[in-house]
Amino acid sequence: MENLGESHMQQKKGRRLILFPLPFQGHINPMLQLANILYSKGFSITIIHTKFNSPNPSNYPHFTFCSIQDGLSETEASTTDFVALISVLHVKCAAPFQDCLAKLLSNAEEKEEEPIACLITDASWFFTHDVAESLKLPRIVLRSLSVSSSLVYAALPVLSQKGYFPIQDSHDLEAPVPELPPLRMKDIPVIETLYQETLHQFAAEAINQMKASSGCIWNSVQELEQDSLAKFHREFPIPSFPIGPFHKYYPASASSLLSQDRICISRLDKQAPKSVIYVSFGSIAAIDETKFLEVAWGLANSKVPFLWVVRPGLVRGAEWIELLPRGFLEMLDGRGHIVKWAPQQEVLAHPATGAFWTHCGWNSTLESMCEGVPMICQPCHGEQMVIARYVSDVWKVGLHLERKLERGEVERAIRRVMVDAEGREMRNRAAILKEKLDLCTKQGSSSYQSLENLISYILSY
Ligand code: UDX
Repeated sequence: MENLGESHMQQKKGRRLILFPLPFQGHINPMLQLANILYSKGFSITIIHTKFNSPNPSNYPHFTFCSIQDGLSETEASTTDFVALISVLHVKCAAPFQDCLAKLLSNAEEKEEEPIACLITDASWFFTHDVAESLKLPRIVLRSLSVSSSLVYAALPVLSQKGYFPIQDSHDLEAPVPELPPLRMKDIPVIETLYQETLHQFAAEAINQMKASSGCIWNSVQELEQDSLAKFHREFPIPSFPIGPFHKYYPASASSLLSQDRICISRLDKQAPKSVIYVSFGSIAAIDETKFLEVAWGLANSKVPFLWVVRPGLVRGAEWIELLPRGFLEMLDGRGHIVKWAPQQEVLAHPATGAFWTHCGWNSTLESMCEGVPMICQPCHGEQMVIARYVSDVWKVGLHLERKLERGEVERAIRRVMVDAEGREMRNRAAILKEKLDLCTKQGSSSYQSLENLISYILSY
């Protein structure tokens, strides 16, 4: 980790920042990491959060936490339709958020506490724009996606006008999208939802309110997304601060919503260097029984040792791994280990980890690239398709599983990355990329400089 810990805490800035994460693991992690980064730079931190997927305040005794009522019913909270859930959250959180923020502002004034410099919200919380404006508080957004995938979301309305949607099998899915190189038709983000129209409205609204914000913070790196950042600057007339990768400063473990199974680390300790494939499809994706079994048999047949995260909820209609054939794990003779949730950053940094079969969530992708671990990309939904294309075709540190998820295909992909010359080349490129990413948070480098710029910008309020 970089030297930003509390012992290196800089002089108190005398300003408070209010942060509001979107309550999903892939968004909570970068927001809480950002909070730690800004705290270590001398700001006081207040986190406003929903009761749903609340972070654990006891892991952050140095922050103030304010919980708001999200009013979610049990049924609403347990839906697997991500768009429906976000939609309900937007409706139910707007008033409680406004009340909470107004109270924090008036308390700070009445009690002559340190002034609140600005609000930092997840870019997907677009209703916060009007709230911040009504309270005359600057609003900076954190975009926890890659810059390139955000630009793809920004282009959806234009693609829609041109008749791209709905994308169907009758389209040539392999055809390039001329507006968005290097994407092909099949890489355009899709999310399975009953509310496609809402999804497009949300994407458009998040982009509009990002354009209207006081600035945008990226968990990304100039060296990684130079062209996309340049395009962003042309299309969005707001200051932008690529200060990532956040986990180089602070790990995500403190904001983990599920408890991380640490036994897998001691098991990795017993394995040969770069011999194990780590498999995880993140915090939201769900697969059906058929796919689950193809993954299981592909891993088994590859004969490569594996560590597989099967999150409760990953397999539709199952509690956990009860759909595996009887005796499956025993048959592997200790070669396979399945956990519910892993200390992912430690797993990726472990010498025994040779590759990561991932859904290409942005946090997972960055974490893998920072450890020089080549990937097998299995995007499940949304911008993961875009990230997978960049991993395989632009950064060239992974293999894209583009055909049907089938055990023979899986077995071949694992062997290509773990055993074949192609995998060695990928690993070499991943090692070079890791070196680059190692440098970018060091003093004088691009992310370091962007962070300094961000701090001066906030202090200018
Ligand atoms: C999702 C979607 O990918 C994306 O569309 C949305 O924008 C953000 O949320 P998620 O599935 O949460 O992302 O994946 P990712 O962005 O990779 O974040 C997962 C986080 O959980 C990572 O920080 C990872 O280290 C952590 N994790 C994952 C664990 O701590 N343990 C695990 O076992 C698996």
